[in-house]
Amino acid sequence: MNIIEVKDYQAMSEKASLYVIDKVREAPFINLGLATGGTPIGLYKLLVEDYRKNHTSYKNVTTFNLDEYVGLSGNHPNSYRYFMNEKLFNHIGIKKINTFIPNGAADDILNECNMYEQLINQKGGIDLQILGIGSNGHIGFNEPGTKFDSRTHIVDLAPSTREANARFFNTPNEVPTKAITMGISTIMKSKEILLLISGESKSDALHRLLHDGVCESFPASVLKNHPKVTIIADEAALRKKLTLTSCC
Ligand code: F6R
Repeated sequence: MNIIEVKDYQAMSEKASLYVIDKVREAPFINLGLATGGTPIGLYKLLVEDYRKNHTSYKNVTTFNLDEYVGLSGNHPNSYRYFMNEKLFNHIGIKKINTFIPNGAADDILNECNMYEQLINQKGGIDLQILGIGSNGHIGFNEPGTKFDSRTHIVDLAPSTREANARFFNTPNEVPTKAITMGISTIMKSKEILLLISGESKSDALHRLLHDGVCESFPASVLKNHPKVTIIADEAALRKKLTLTSCC
């Protein structure tokens, strides 16, 4: 894993945006894997700014998002489809039909998971996957204990994840209890991974990722088995020493 240290959230977002813009310019038909949550908001803002100023073209880019809440349709303001449209897709000239996110409102969620997995494969797989990390080490919504060979599947969200995401909802009770997520093996099949980590709340997770072994109780540890991972982490995330008990 290659680690790039930066000062703060803004510097992380800038570095990540330059990284992504370079890739899109080099390979205009790139398949990008995208994340939601607080971490990539700065990156998406800068991609939009760059599109306005420099006209980087997304007209041939295809995107696959990591996950979506079960029970929320794409026009629900808390759905990840809505988030992605608002933060990125509505502003960069990408064709909406080339932006894929699991449908959390599908009648048959199991079928939706299988179709999503197949779709990624049919389109040639993900070239560059952007990831954030949960403070419990989740990637996508693959919570601790998820099998490393998992494909796109339905998950029960950990209480800590629902709590962390409650900030985006009116009341904590509104946070859905289930989600569809790419599996760990789906993520690991990406040709390249860019992991963004910012803030003190992620410092234990980053420390554990850098210093512990690989085990299913800490999902992000699997990234050590991937040949091409770049981490962009800020000072606050890199600062703190490990306080969690490790099990790997
Ligand atoms: C989001 C996702 C999650 C987040 C993680 C960190 O699509 O898959 O793994 O990346 O929960 O969330 P933030 O960035 O809000 O701290």
